[in-house]
Amino acid sequence: MEIVPLSSVDEVAVLAASAIETLVRAQPAAVLGLATGSSPVPAYAELVARHRAGTGPSYAEVRAFLLDEYVGLPAGHPQSYRATIARELTDELGLHADRVHGPDPSDVRTAGAAYEAQLVAAGGVDLQVLGIGGDGHLAFNEPGSSLSSTTRLKTLTEETRRDNARFFGSLDEVPRHVLTQGLGTILRARHLLLIATGTGKAAAIAAAVEGPLSASCPASVLQLHPHATVLLDPQAATLLERTDHYREVFAAKPAWQGF
Ligand code: GLP
Repeated sequence: MEIVPLSSVDEVAVLAASAIETLVRAQPAAVLGLATGSSPVPAYAELVARHRAGTGPSYAEVRAFLLDEYVGLPAGHPQSYRATIARELTDELGLHADRVHGPDPSDVRTAGAAYEAQLVAAGGVDLQVLGIGGDGHLAFNEPGSSLSSTTRLKTLTEETRRDNARFFGSLDEVPRHVLTQGLGTILRARHLLLIATGTGKAAAIAAAVEGPLSASCPASVLQLHPHATVLLDPQAATLLERTDHYREVFAAKPAWQGF
């Protein structure tokens, strides 16, 4: 796992956007795994700004797969993850809606297996963008989730519903159920790029990166992945014990290596 403590949210956004662009330039038909939530928003805004400025690659052949989706929202609800990613990123990049996939909340019984089959048919995810919950959740895999789980229906914790209430009018409007890629699904992506910013993520990052591998901290599953990159702003890195070493490693990284 490569831990990269950076100087600001902006620097995190610039490096995350560059990692995505580098992949798409090398593989124009890349399969991107996209997270929603606020953590990747600055990186997505950076990608959109570069695309508008004409300096970004073409996304016409890219396919994208969402990590998760709420269950029970009316189709097209602005806070559905489908609508959110279209608004924040994919429509802006010229990525046609037909090429953006998510678990189908209209049939929760079959959605998990169907989504797993879609991911396999697409050849798997090349680069998976991830955030992390304050309790260490990954996608919507709450603490206690099986480390080898696949896409399925889950119930949100009260803490996650409260965290996400800021996107809705009130806590009551936050769905209780979701469909989410499992931790085993996420581990199949070829590169994991986790973005964490702010003090609210510091404890979860310390547990995920330097704590034991445990279903009690779902994001600790990154320790099992052969190619995981964790981009942190100073606040999210505050509780790490080996920060000096991570900085030395990043400073000494050969330029050709990239992420
Ligand atoms: C949400 C999403 C996750 C996200 C996480 C952190 O509930 N399902 O994909 O990474 O929680 O969200 P945020 O980035 O807004 O802090």
